[in-house]
Amino acid sequence: MFGSKEIIIRSGKRLIIRPMRKEDEKALFEFFSRLPNDLLIFIRHNVRDPQVIKEWVDHLNYERVLPIVALDNDKIVADVTLHRIPYGWKRHIGQVRIVVDPAYHGQGLATAILNELVELGAEFGLEKLWAEVPLDSIAAVKAFKNAGFRCKAVVEGLVKDLRGNNVDILIMVCDIEQYYDSKWLRKKESTGA
Ligand SMILES: CC(C)(COP(=O)(O)OP(=O)(O)OC[C@H]1O[C@@H](n2cnc3c(N)ncnc32)[C@H](O)[C@@H]1OP(=O)(O)O)[C@@H](O)C(=O)NCCC(=O)NCCS
Repeated sequence: MFGSKEIIIRSGKRLIIRPMRKEDEKALFEFFSRLPNDLLIFIRHNVRDPQVIKEWVDHLNYERVLPIVALDNDKIVADVTLHRIPYGWKRHIGQVRIVVDPAYHGQGLATAILNELVELGAEFGLEKLWAEVPLDSIAAVKAFKNAGFRCKAVVEGLVKDLRGNNVDILIMVCDIEQYYDSKWLRKKESTGA
């Protein structure tokens, strides 16, 4: 999926998902400006600063960080990033982060983009994808599970929420080969072949 792809979410709306481009600067800034503070906590940068977004789009390097956006016409409604480490013992692993506009929650959008991302991970020759998910976020755990991620470990009280409370983090990992095996098996079973 290195062009763009149309997906249909549960409301029947058609969205486009594609890698972020330089011209997305304004729409990306607007997306992050719309997000409530409790969702911004998942992002490691101050995305309410337009300079931060400008730096990102000016230095796009898909080999290191591949950002995928979902668009409803010209409006960005989700952002997912695949981070890769070029050398060392984690060179076969991609780290995934995702945030979806609350107005589009519960419509299968995260599930659809994460499935695309696993396919991209395979195209890049990655073996595993890794995500750090708040243990109490049913939606996040389900969305990653829907895309073949499995729960691997809990790190108690690792991160802090907005109020400074420690929050448990669930490490979820997708084994890309197993993802394809199980997809192939499901297809075989459904076609009876
Ligand atoms: C986690 C997140 C990306 C999910 O996005 P989404 O587009 O709503 O996810 P989906 O619609 O694909 O839903 C996945 C599953 O969760 C369920 N779900 C969605 N919102 C839910 C909620 N509030 N409560 C319970 N289940 C919920 C969906 O019904 C779906 O279940 P199903 O597979 O049984 O149908 C979104 O909530 C978000 O942006 N959260 C903040 C950022 C975050 O936590 N990121 C993860 C860490 S990187």
